[in-house]
Amino acid sequence: MTPIVSFVNQKGGVGKTSTTLGIASAALTSSLKVLVVDTDPQANATAALGAGDHVEFDLNDLIEANTNSVNAVQEVITPSSWSETIDVLPASLDLAKRDGDTTPMVEFRLRKALQLVAPSYDLILVDCSPSVGKLVMSSLIASTHVIVVTEPSAPALAGVENLRDTISAIQEYGNPELEVAGVVVNRSNNTREARFRIDELQEALGSDVLRPHIPSRSIVSEAMGAQQPVHAYLSRSRDVSEIYDKLLKQIISTGKQTADNARSDLGGGARQ
Ligand SMILES: Nc1ncnc2c1ncn2[C@@H]1O[C@H](COP(=O)(O)OP(=O)(O)OP(=O)(O)O)[C@@H](O)[C@H]1O
Ligand SMILES: [Mg+2]
Repeated sequence: MTPIVSFVNQKGGVGKTSTTLGIASAALTSSLKVLVVDTDPQANATAALGAGDHVEFDLNDLIEANTNSVNAVQEVITPSSWSETIDVLPASLDLAKRDGDTTPMVEFRLRKALQLVAPSYDLILVDCSPSVGKLVMSSLIASTHVIVVTEPSAPALAGVENLRDTISAIQEYGNPELEVAGVVVNRSNNTREARFRIDELQEALGSDVLRPHIPSRSIVSEAMGAQQPVHAYLSRSRDVSEIYDKLLKQIISTGKQTADNARSDLGGGARQ
């Protein structure tokens, strides 16, 4: 079973896209075949993966089409400019229309599309918009795992518990298999305020806070702007790249654990 991991927070600018891209960059150096799904009409991940200029169809068309055909989904997926191992299901501003779409069960269409292509990938990463609207619901319904990205500041943390209620509702009504893989703390620095906020988060959520935390590094935004994987900057990005590597390892091992549990629930043991 391919892990499908959504990166969420209704707060804007906390690092959902940069974390998605950092993990995709780590996956690239591990030679994993990855699909990055951009469910944010801002299309920042699409642009940073060099897929913004040449797309004919995007996720909005795919949701509208409600297709059962693998070929139709593959037609919307485009290679990134990073590498042939990283593909993109691109977004565009048109996708904003879908947040107001009242078609019954429209939130399940992304799930159906991703299930058709999931066997072709080792990992699927879903970059979400800063909301709790229909597109985020669609992403969570389509995912096996969710990672909440936050910063160690009071306003950023205020929304995290609220978000957990949304996730619980999705688990109850839309996707009982959805697992919380953890909270990633981005732009962590060693100030007293940051340490205090991280302790507060840890206390509220228990073991869900993933380590290491991602520090603030200008190379992260430089890589995004230059449409390059952050690992390409070698020594300039080494400390932050190693952190993305460690987070990727945790995501993969959580995914494996989930697959093993599913197999043993079916009575199949831990066969590969
Ligand atoms: N660890 C970091 N160090 C330095 N800059 C960062 C870091 N993480 C993110 N940034 C920068 O901060 C800005 C916001 O980050 P990003 O776009 O990833 O946030 P987001 O949560 O996806 O935003 P939105 O909610 O608008 O989608 C970007 O310019 C990004 O390059
Ligand atoms: Mg973003």
